[in-house]
Amino acid sequence: MRSDTGRTDSLWMATAPPRALPPLAEDLRTDVAVIGAGIAGITTAYLLALEGPRVVVLEDGAVGGGETGRTTAHLSNALDDRYHVLERLHGEEGARLAAASHAAAIDRIESTVAAEGIACDFQRLDGYLFVPPGESLEILDAEFEAARRAGLRDVRMVPRASAPSFNSGPCLLFPRQAQFHPLAYVGALVGAIERRGGRIFGATHVTGVEAGPPAVVSSEGGCKVTADFVVCATNTPIIDWLVIHSKQAPYRTFAIAARVPPDTVPAALYWDTADPYHYVRLHGDLLIAGGEDHKTGQEDDAYDRFAYLDAWTRERFPIGEVEYTWSGQVMEPVDGLGYIGRNPGDKGHILVATGDSGHGMTHGTIAGILLTDLILGRPNPWERLYDPSRKSLKSAAGYLKENVNVAKQYFDYVSPGEVGSVDEIGPGQGAVVRQGLTKLAVYRDEQGALHPRSAVCPHLGCIVHWNSLEGTWDCPCHGSRFGTDGRVLNGPAVAGLESRDLEGGSAR
Ligand SMILES: Cc1cc2nc3c(=O)[nH]c(=O)nc-3n(C[C@H](O)[C@H](O)[C@H](O)COP(=O)(O)OP(=O)(O)OC[C@H]3O[C@@H](n4cnc5c(N)ncnc54)[C@H](O)[C@@H]3O)c2cc1C
Ligand code: FES
Repeated sequence: MRSDTGRTDSLWMATAPPRALPPLAEDLRTDVAVIGAGIAGITTAYLLALEGPRVVVLEDGAVGGGETGRTTAHLSNALDDRYHVLERLHGEEGARLAAASHAAAIDRIESTVAAEGIACDFQRLDGYLFVPPGESLEILDAEFEAARRAGLRDVRMVPRASAPSFNSGPCLLFPRQAQFHPLAYVGALVGAIERRGGRIFGATHVTGVEAGPPAVVSSEGGCKVTADFVVCATNTPIIDWLVIHSKQAPYRTFAIAARVPPDTVPAALYWDTADPYHYVRLHGDLLIAGGEDHKTGQEDDAYDRFAYLDAWTRERFPIGEVEYTWSGQVMEPVDGLGYIGRNPGDKGHILVATGDSGHGMTHGTIAGILLTDLILGRPNPWERLYDPSRKSLKSAAGYLKENVNVAKQYFDYVSPGEVGSVDEIGPGQGAVVRQGLTKLAVYRDEQGALHPRSAVCPHLGCIVHWNSLEGTWDCPCHGSRFGTDGRVLNGPAVAGLESRDLEGGSAR
């Protein structure tokens, strides 16, 4: 079975390991093929299965083994791109629809938990948004006004957050937020889909989609699924070469979980307005804090980031020893809202869900609701807001910034390698090495053997970088990631890093 997307294990993976499923072993004909079994794919499959269409889900690892297993699972409509910014980019009506869609997603998760009797620690609670020490409260004032204009009439300014261990100062209280155990939730939905006739296959890597119609989804093992509709819920699309990838950027974010003495921290969601921001919640007596993001493949200092996160959290909450540390990837859209709907350039029967930002739990649920409506031919009020083909002059600055950043990554072709010689690569580590005009991604295993691959990302040719925390090769351009054996772990690439020989044939 394909492994998860890195060496670290989240709290969720340790307490409800992702469920492994058998691979696709025959050709199938279905109404809807869903690629990817994270929260977006599984929710879409579940909501479709409730209404009758035949659904087949293809997943190349285990259910929830992607970013859904690496989340911190705040269920929130306090959008991290901020309502006063969304209002500027999408207008007052757009901000209102965004708020309503995330609130509806939390409601939908709550009603699903009740209807299916899912034991996933779903809990409603308050969320607090506060500024870093010494910073102006102006951002909170602007956000308060914009949130209320967006229809969140019960948001209010309070003197401090509920945690007695630190004084947050004046902050915004967002009521009726929620949290849950993400893998317990998606794991239970698998059973609910199967009970309604849906079929879910694991360890099945999709290598391509012929649009048709009908569309034909090909898998690495050779079996195909023919479908009237295809939903690409692979976190970042594996079916689009450039259009969507130029409108979003991959970021790596970090999380820790540490025990707190019982009843010392009130159950709530806590967020600051730093950039990147910190996010905190409880799970039993474990306090989970996240943040310290960087652009994927552009830094390799995870241990420093965990240390900053630990110090930031310890200053505010009575945490003991850190028991879990992990990282994961989020896709940041240039205009603050995800892309859910018809894939640009296709005939309307190939659909995508991506650009989840830090709200992938609700975003993936919005995807389930919206894509089900599109497939069943029903109108949906959020269709235009999340349309993957949308363009906006107002987001041109964000678009330019991310694409200039991508263009700069191609200078890696002329820069030296990360090390001068493979002798400098320690056991269990990797580095990019120059070999003549090309660059190699070289991994040395624990036994000392070297594993050279091409360092050129098969998506659009950027040079991958070593991620020493997760033991992966990460592409700094659009977030493709690869294992030490070169196989692809995250799109948009669908193929792995090519095998290469080291000059002189040295394997040690
Ligand atoms: C540390 C961290 C904290 C976060 N905190 C929050 C939070 O508090 N609240 C929140 O709402 N969001 C949060 N997020 C974001 C959220 O976790 C993600 O946005 C969400 O899980 C994405 O779900 P998904 O279904 O789109 O993708 P995934 O869960 O990644 O699912 C995509 C699936 O597609 C599969 N796949 C990919 N390529 C192929 C292929 N070629 N063939 C077959 N299968 C394929 C993958 O194996 C994967 O299982 C956080 C993320 C991280 C990393
Ligand atoms: S992910 Fe686009 S070039 Fe690597």
